[in-house]
Amino acid sequence: MTASNKLRLLDLCEQNIPIEWLDETDSTNTRLLSTPGTDTRICIADSQTQGRGQHARPWHSPKGENIYFSARYPFQHDLGALSGLSLAISVMLCTLLQEMLPGTPLSIKWPNDILCQNQKIAGILIELRSGLAIVGIGINVNMMPALGNPIDQPWTSLRRIIGREVDRIPLCAALIRQLPVCLNRFEREGLIPFLKQWERLDALAGKTIQIRCGTELIQGQAQGIDPLGCLVMITPTGERRVFASGESCLLK
Ligand code: BTN
Repeated sequence: MTASNKLRLLDLCEQNIPIEWLDETDSTNTRLLSTPGTDTRICIADSQTQGRGQHARPWHSPKGENIYFSARYPFQHDLGALSGLSLAISVMLCTLLQEMLPGTPLSIKWPNDILCQNQKIAGILIELRSGLAIVGIGINVNMMPALGNPIDQPWTSLRRIIGREVDRIPLCAALIRQLPVCLNRFEREGLIPFLKQWERLDALAGKTIQIRCGTELIQGQAQGIDPLGCLVMITPTGERRVFASGESCLLK
């Protein structure tokens, strides 16, 4: 990052948090997981050589196009709170991106894929280690189809939707401002204050979907989430099933 962009970021984010901006790293999440200490800090990279997505998938991270962002915060909860936290952050991120895309509705595919017209625009990977949460966020900002070839699912970017190049600095600054607000709220009140917004953003509610849970594939009708953030589904035999984790997909 140029010196002037660093200053712009510091100026816009209004926070006194250590921020490391790298030209290249393996993965900003991995970097923060292996950075000693327990302080709150941010790592942003211009490219990742081993960007990681959910379900051990690679996260395509070409140089200078997108946002590859991770933040480390103290988080004194067990793994059970992780899925709720990822939903709360997806609501925050979706709301933030929606402000940049008035008139183009965004939605969230459980648990935390941000979609625009069923194409993925952003994803979240949260990892917990010894009282710390590493919140990794990838946003497709300026990537155009020629660079997105390796991606194996429908995707879009802010630039593809808006039709012009997007400045990544204000978006990074907004993430740095909003994430601690979202985390504090989740730590104090859990998922409850995010549920109403989730309902409005839910890409799956009422739709026929399939969940991959380990090796099991289950189909049914999505019925929103419960207060802990688990996906609720009614199967074709009328059985109510609740999933704490898994990979969802919309069936046409
Ligand atoms: C997903 O599969 O939807 C989650 C994608 C998360 C990607 C981000 S990019 C910054 C951070 N570093 C990584 O290696 N992954 C996350």
